[in-house]
Amino acid sequence: MRITPITGTIGAELSGLDLKQPISEDLEQALRAALDTHLVLVIKDQFLDAAQHRLLSEVFGKPMVNPYAPGKAPHPEMTHVIKEADDAAGVFGGGWHTDLSFFDQPPNGSVLCALEVPPFGGDTLFSNQQAAWDGLAAPLREILNERKLIHVGKPYGIKWAPPIEEQSMKGSSLRNDPDADRERFHPAVLTHPVTNRRALYLNPTYTLRLEGMSEEESRPILDALFQHTTQPEYCCRLRWSEGMVAIWDNFSTQHYAVNDYYGYRREMRRTAFSGYSISDYSPH
Ligand SMILES: [Fe+2]
Repeated sequence: MRITPITGTIGAELSGLDLKQPISEDLEQALRAALDTHLVLVIKDQFLDAAQHRLLSEVFGKPMVNPYAPGKAPHPEMTHVIKEADDAAGVFGGGWHTDLSFFDQPPNGSVLCALEVPPFGGDTLFSNQQAAWDGLAAPLREILNERKLIHVGKPYGIKWAPPIEEQSMKGSSLRNDPDADRERFHPAVLTHPVTNRRALYLNPTYTLRLEGMSEEESRPILDALFQHTTQPEYCCRLRWSEGMVAIWDNFSTQHYAVNDYYGYRREMRRTAFSGYSISDYSPH
């Protein structure tokens, strides 16, 4: 396996692999180590079927069912992220976010396989939240150290849900769940259990406020943080090709699905894995 970084900050392409073949224990360890280091992994030309996709996910943790976008039997843990050519609404995952941070136990990461991609556009951006923490001004670090942030599942609840026509995956993404409006508290800064790198854990889509502060008081701080955490120096941008696989660490990155391919269909198959829990990443 060869590892080629994509940028100076985040992401690596792995080559010399055929993930359709059984994955040895040595390769499992090498894949986990590569993810711990680079946070986003890209492997082209794999064309995995659902069973092979699941086996790859299990290298990193137990596949989880997303209750708001469950897959069809026999693979409820696999969400098909589909945008039809004539869908003029938003795109699933448009806007910077980490996946499902409003859960009590958010997923540790995801494996995403490209099944059908547009001839251009439909890229995914990732931002390194470890680099964002390292680059954060000291006074802001002080505000966030040992503090929790409050997350709510705005698109899936009632209180903050956008109008239905603005929602992506309208047919297959569930909404109006009062439990999604419940506030969940997670540390603002997570420490990686293997590398001990610290990362900001926040989410422009789901983070509502800082612990001990109202939404209004939190707004200017959150806006400054959201801007800081997604600057180009912390990012890589993945150009998809059919058969390509990407794997990411959901506790150390944010991502953004670019909505720029109207007129073309795009279909991805995704698993989220539990792996480490958020308490494994929390300061001890
Ligand atoms: Fe996402």
